Amino acid sequence: MHASALNGQMIVILGGSSGLGLATARLAIQEGARVYIGARNAEQLAQVLVDLGPNAAGATLEIGEEASVNAFFKGIDHMDHLVITAANNAPARLLEGSLEQLRISMDSRFWGAVMAIRAAVPLMPEHGSIVMTSGMVSLRPRPAMSVVAAAASAVESLARSLVSELAPRRINVINPGPMHTPLLSSVLDDAALQKLATQLPLGKLGTGEDYAQAALFALSNAYLNGSTIHLNGGAAWA
Ligand SMILES: NC(=O)c1ccc[n+]([C@@H]2O[C@H](COP(=O)([O-])OP(=O)(O)OC[C@H]3O[C@@H](n4cnc5c(N)ncnc54)[C@H](OP(=O)(O)O)[C@@H]3O)[C@@H](O)[C@H]2O)c1
Repeated sequence: MHASALNGQMIVILGGSSGLGLATARLAIQEGARVYIGARNAEQLAQVLVDLGPNAAGATLEIGEEASVNAFFKGIDHMDHLVITAANNAPARLLEGSLEQLRISMDSRFWGAVMAIRAAVPLMPEHGSIVMTSGMVSLRPRPAMSVVAAAASAVESLARSLVSELAPRRINVINPGPMHTPLLSSVLDDAALQKLATQLPLGKLGTGEDYAQAALFALSNAYLNGSTIHLNGGAAWA
């Protein structure tokens, strides 16, 4: 008999084909859950579903498009929990970037979450819960990251603002610092990653597994609600 609170539960993971979402899918399956994954790249999704095995299924999704989000959730009869890691960041200085570019992170991280929550909650039982993802940039913004930071802050505010409307379902956010995932590796080479790690209080980057543990805690802890978990190894405060 499996002791996990998530045993037998269905967890929908938007962004579950890579990085933090994929690590969460892996750990959830180890805990006896089933996962249903959404991501854009069909080929990568298919490969991940084969790797994850029989307790994983999924479909393609563009989180920033309402029709795609609604079509994705039409393929789901029942779900217990929702985890959202999918989002796109398009850094741009406010006065120099195009509005189209500046809107990308709000469209995916904030409006994507809004659309996903609207589609998912009617499928969720009272014990259901939601985890969204923000980012340490909300605490330590930099030039060209103002709208990216605002989108991260927006989902944290959204979680706090929704507790009454969604209760007894719960909603929380994980705010990651630098985590060693394909996303970070796409912008920093190995030497830069290593250098970054040495500058952090714990001398190391976070991992997908660190995120997955926090996500499963947030899904299963029955009193955590409207909270933001700061998962940055102390980097935001150093
Ligand atoms: N890694 C870090 O250091 C870090 C730090 C702070 C915050 N975060 C945030 O954490 C989240 C996950 O990051 P990660 O490092 O796990 O990234 P990742 O390895 O690139 O994984 C992102 C996942 O989201 C999916 N995705 C991306 N855009 C999507 C879209 N528009 N519609 C649907 N699915 C989409 C990707 O699949 P497809 O590409 O196939 O769509 C993939 O499954 C992101 O929101 C990121 O901004 C990451």
